[in-house]
Amino acid sequence: MSILSLMDVKKFFPTAQGVVRAVDGVSFDIGKGETLGLVGESGSGKSTVAYTVIGSHAPTSGSISFEGEDIGLQASKRPLSIKKRLQIVFQDPGTSLNSARTIRQTLEVPLKVHGNGMSRQQRLERVVGLLDLIQLPPAYMHKTPGMLSGGEKQMVGIARALATGPSFVILDEPTSALDVSVQAKIITMLMDFQRRFELSYLFITHDLSLMRNVASRVAIMYLGKLCEVAGTSEFFRNPLHPYTQLLLSSIPVLSDEEERLKPGQVISRGEIPSPVNIPSGCSFHLRCHRKMEICEHKDPEMVDTDQGHRVRCHLYP
Ligand SMILES: Nc1ncnc2c1ncn2[C@@H]1O[C@H](COP(=O)(O)OP(=O)(O)O)[C@@H](O)[C@H]1O
Ligand SMILES: [Mg+2]
Repeated sequence: MSILSLMDVKKFFPTAQGVVRAVDGVSFDIGKGETLGLVGESGSGKSTVAYTVIGSHAPTSGSISFEGEDIGLQASKRPLSIKKRLQIVFQDPGTSLNSARTIRQTLEVPLKVHGNGMSRQQRLERVVGLLDLIQLPPAYMHKTPGMLSGGEKQMVGIARALATGPSFVILDEPTSALDVSVQAKIITMLMDFQRRFELSYLFITHDLSLMRNVASRVAIMYLGKLCEVAGTSEFFRNPLHPYTQLLLSSIPVLSDEEERLKPGQVISRGEIPSPVNIPSGCSFHLRCHRKMEICEHKDPEMVDTDQGHRVRCHLYP
């Protein structure tokens, strides 16, 4: 059974320049203990998906269910029991932590909201426990974010998300702002927490190579729509969408076998268009190396090619 399910979710923003179709009909399911990697270039709508799931945005249309309950509502209208189980870690640990609060105060906020009358002493013990979890000494509770490294700040962001004992965590580019060495440490921690606390993750990134060892399934997003979704090994073995092939052609390979399987050089034509002015037909056609005539005027439907391998491209009718 899936823990999170999105059905044809749309989120449009009216602006002075026109309507931004940031998320335009996204559907996916995430099973218990699974990690779905949501991958796309900057501006493809990944964070808007995250904010809609977490409830900062109400969807324009479509439905979202979490642990069997319909949650297509703004966070302010959601029951506390849902907020407690559904948490988020943001990309920029610098701005997501309140610089005026000590780490103890930051970690106590969710405990006060969701702690069901925990005593001061119990909260303190929980803060020490959370710091231990992220391998920071108890004395860190007295520090403010300005005294922490970028990696430490992000670990506090993760501890804050885990404070309420969630079942599902959205990770919105959790390591994109960090050095590679720190990135590896944080990913290892996240994978460890997933096993220990039976967490499901929506792991958002623009770095497809990161997904190989982290995701159970990978979903590729382009201009507000998914173009391909598949189990991770199937995804890397048999990428179908020309956009996926473009993304894969620019990441390093790990073995000779992969070198053989890797799509040959794929040429990207043009830049990512603006989501206000989405091209007619398939929104990727202007950059596609396999473009056909139909692609200019007909937007393809998502089709299931094989058990759970979905692709939205006229090459696969
Ligand atoms: N509140 C908003 N108002 C208007 N446009 C927005 C808003 N939030 C996001 N967008 C636009 O929606 C598109 C998708 O943004 P976002 O979800 O942040 O992409 P990503 O996280 O993949 O980089 C972008 O073009 C962005 O400018
Ligand atoms: Mg983003």
